[in-house]
Amino acid sequence: MALKLPYIISFMLLLIFPFSATAQTYRNITLGSSLIANGNNSSWVSPSGDFAFGFQQIVTGGYLLAIWFDKIPEKTIIWSANGDSLAQEGSKIQLNTNGNFVLSDPKDQQIWAPSFARTGVAYASMLDTGNFVLVRNNSSLPLWQSFGEPTDTILPTQVLSQGTTLVARYAEANYSGGRFTINMQNDGNLVFYTTYFPFDGQNSDYWSTDTIGSGFQVIFNQSGAIYLARSNGTVLYSISSNSISGNDVYQRAILEHDGVLRQYVYPKSANSAGGRPMKWSVLSFIPSNICKSINQKIGPGLCGYNSYCVLGNDQRPTCECPSGYTFFDPNDNTSGCKPTFVPQNCGEELHETDLFEFAEMMNTDWPSNDREAYQPVSEDWCREVCLNDCFCSFAIFSNQNCWPKNYPVYNGRIDSGFAGKALIKIRKDNSTKKSENSGPKKKGDQTTLIITGSVLLGSSVFLNLLLLLSVFLGIFHFSNRRRKTVQPFPVMPGINLRSFSYKELEKATNGFKEELGRGAFSTVYKGVLNYEDPQAVAVKRLDRMVREGETEFKAEVSSIGKTNHKNLAQLVGYCNEGLHRLLVYEFMSNGSLATFLFEDPRPNWYQRIKIAFGTARGIFYLHEECSSPIIHCDIKPQNVLLDDLFTARISDFGLAKLLNRNQTRTTTAIRGTKGYVAPEWFKNMAITAKVDVYSFGVLLLELICCRKNFELNENCEDEEILVDWAWDCYKDGKLELLVKNDEEALGDMKRVEKFVMVAIWCIQEDPSLRPTMKKVTQMLEGAVEVSGPPDPSSFISSI
Ligand SMILES: *[C@@H]1O[C@H](CO)[C@@H](O)[C@H](O)[C@H]1NC(C)=O
Ligand SMILES: *[C@@H]1O[C@H](CO)[C@@H](O)[C@H](O)[C@H]1NC(C)=O
Ligand SMILES: *[C@@H]1O[C@H](CO)[C@@H](O)[C@H](O)[C@H]1NC(C)=O
Ligand SMILES: *[C@@H]1O[C@H](CO)[C@@H](O)[C@H](O)[C@H]1NC(C)=O
Ligand SMILES: *[C@@H]1O[C@H](CO)[C@@H](O)[C@H](O)[C@H]1NC(C)=O
Ligand SMILES: *[C@@H]1O[C@H](CO)[C@@H](O)[C@H](O)[C@H]1NC(C)=O
Ligand SMILES: *[C@@H]1O[C@H](CO)[C@@H](O)[C@H](O)[C@H]1NC(C)=O
Ligand SMILES: *[C@@H]1O[C@H](CO)[C@@H](O)[C@H](O)[C@H]1NC(C)=O
Ligand SMILES: *[C@@H]1O[C@H](CO)[C@@H](O)[C@H](O)[C@H]1NC(C)=O
Ligand SMILES: *[C@@H]1O[C@H](CO)[C@@H](O)[C@H](O)[C@H]1NC(C)=O
Repeated sequence: MALKLPYIISFMLLLIFPFSATAQTYRNITLGSSLIANGNNSSWVSPSGDFAFGFQQIVTGGYLLAIWFDKIPEKTIIWSANGDSLAQEGSKIQLNTNGNFVLSDPKDQQIWAPSFARTGVAYASMLDTGNFVLVRNNSSLPLWQSFGEPTDTILPTQVLSQGTTLVARYAEANYSGGRFTINMQNDGNLVFYTTYFPFDGQNSDYWSTDTIGSGFQVIFNQSGAIYLARSNGTVLYSISSNSISGNDVYQRAILEHDGVLRQYVYPKSANSAGGRPMKWSVLSFIPSNICKSINQKIGPGLCGYNSYCVLGNDQRPTCECPSGYTFFDPNDNTSGCKPTFVPQNCGEELHETDLFEFAEMMNTDWPSNDREAYQPVSEDWCREVCLNDCFCSFAIFSNQNCWPKNYPVYNGRIDSGFAGKALIKIRKDNSTKKSENSGPKKKGDQTTLIITGSVLLGSSVFLNLLLLLSVFLGIFHFSNRRRKTVQPFPVMPGINLRSFSYKELEKATNGFKEELGRGAFSTVYKGVLNYEDPQAVAVKRLDRMVREGETEFKAEVSSIGKTNHKNLAQLVGYCNEGLHRLLVYEFMSNGSLATFLFEDPRPNWYQRIKIAFGTARGIFYLHEECSSPIIHCDIKPQNVLLDDLFTARISDFGLAKLLNRNQTRTTTAIRGTKGYVAPEWFKNMAITAKVDVYSFGVLLLELICCRKNFELNENCEDEEILVDWAWDCYKDGKLELLVKNDEEALGDMKRVEKFVMVAIWCIQEDPSLRPTMKKVTQMLEGAVEVSGPPDPSSFISSI
């Protein structure tokens, strides 16, 4: 048996319901059966005819492999396989003769396959519960079942066990992964999260049962009760208590695209309707007011930037724009709002204050994102302060409190319980719109320029959101920079780097007192730059400046200084004085990945996923996106730092060189660190950016397994090198061994498998087989499929 015991147990738990409930006979879908995505031949129906499995044509084009209620005209979908990549006409789902169940396109490329059921399926079956199962020969336990891998819906008799997730779709008719998830966590808590859309990492929780340590699984039973049960089966938290006759109505509970979990019923027949309309009607929903529930600190929230949420009479949220604003995308009310006027100009000699006024909205709040907080003040004072602040576009006034907001605002809502008002700054008339080109463009016009750009481009929502975000970041950046330029530092021409004297840095680090880390060539100290606003920094003192001369140092500093990416540690300045060579970086409060990853308790799976994404993007940026490409040459956990939000920030370009096409080993001594260095360092081969891909592959495996590549271990049996072991586990289909005891990862085996496959591609001995970092990021993020990697081969023996 390839499956691990905990797996089998959780499968059994999932199974008790469906199988005991449907002891009646059901039709088998035998080996060799298939369905083709076209208008005609497209489903396998359950014996009662209630449910069907097959292809549904989606309005937006393409086919969805799905399960739906087949007897009702709406054909409501309750499960789908390929919402993120719809299948084209002629695609095929087949249970082929060697027991593989695969969805493939007309060119026979795989689009989807169930996890953990690669081979050995003897037959499949669409059950009357709505569960679709793949069954092994003479085993009553299915190898795979749709109930175990739900999308956004659960049905009566279905159980959400620990580690299971529901993901909302993007929109009513768009089955692609959306912005909300519900996680039945391994810690026993049931939590609703927003995601870092378009990624599915958990952003901010907005509802939970608060049952860490005691919740076991969510049960949805025939009489319409949905509850979180303890491990002994008793009700721990009742999500919906109903007592209806499951024989009379169809039921489902779905995490909808607006982040609300709604339970619906639909009469099976007019006779059994008992006064209910012949359509889906809502029986219960959670949370009770979604507009007020979401308060995330990062990202646009439910309604998008500058928008606000109103709960309608039907208790469903709608998103609206304040006066002076319209939707970015008129067809998507969650796309956020853009101003119809030209925002206030921050050019220094332009005093546009008189040209603006406020629109007022009662009981309206944008609770996050305060720029300032003043108290006690009058409303007039509040208006005045916002009017005179060219960065203030919104302010909230309530009970002598005034909160000017950073732009753009988010998490907005109308809340009758909020005794206050929103002040929305708008231009008095639109006539200036045409004259926007007049007047000198100064650096301070950035905001205006970008917003104007986004208004003019006005086509793609996503582009606009990006632009908006960049305005937001731009303002942030700009206001920071403005403060900094006041400071008395000489600046390196062309880049925004400060040049420090040795004395200054000695003072900042309190005489190089607090050591943060030490490498072969450098020591890092904590410091504080004590000017207008104290800023914590990490000062790296290069101990041995071998070979590198003055010009080389300058070139290197300038190439580092030109980089700017959220996954890189930002260089603040440098010191180049006599023999002293120091680099000053932003301080990263959460230390290095090496400490974080290999310590107890280990970081959770989702943090590790985020770090993998971030590191990959950072390296990709260094290789391909910055003005002078950089090979890092020493990617390892010690060189990946973590900021306040545990975002990966690659550091130490100390070994990196400007990418030079003829760069070979002869011009560079072997760089890098044992365990992470690519085989070509030891061979007569050119050193290319692929050395970083190799090191990243090792790091990715370490992230997956929370284990060092080389681990010194007392009991010799376990001292296998990680990369070697990972390949063996992959080859033998025993990936769960890699994440032993890691329940979160075990509940996300699809991704574990994908990540391991990507890592194995990265550690190919032959550099040309390794993907580029661009491809790596795309594979990790799911933008491109990952094919099965070959044996990285004899690379171990070459070390
Ligand atoms: C389904 O197929 C399995 C294996 O071929 C067989 O044991 C079982 O009896 C079949 N069930 C039905 C209902 O045909
Ligand atoms: C669908 O079409 C394929 C190929 O024509 C055929 O083999 C299969 O039996 C059909 N399935 C159904 C359910 O009619
Ligand atoms: C339905 O089947 C017929 C005969 O196999 C075929 O000619 C027709 O193209 C099919 N319809 C669609 C929409 O594929
Ligand atoms: C399942 O068992 C039956 C006989 O019991 C055999 O004919 C069939 O080939 C087996 N299928 C698989 C996939 O092993
Ligand atoms: C599976 O079926 C085969 C023959 O169909 C039988 O010999 C074997 O004992 C069965 N295995 C189990 C675990 O029941
Ligand atoms: C569904 O929404 C996603 C995310 O906005 C988008 O990328 C995708 O194109 C949409 N799909 C369809 C079929 O409209
Ligand atoms: C469903 O669960 C509720 C709450 O535990 C219970 O009162 C009810 O009897 C259950 N119904 C069925 C059909 O199991
Ligand atoms: C189930 O567990 C809870 C908490 O541990 C306990 O209070 C309750 O009595 C148990 N119920 C049964 C039927 O064992
Ligand atoms: C947007 O909201 C308006 C009313 O506020 C509504 O009529 C329209 O259907 C909504 N559109 C979408 C795409 O949600
Ligand atoms: C500005 O223009 C927009 C549309 O172009 C219009 O809806 C709005 O009422 C105008 N505002 C003023 C103050 O004229």
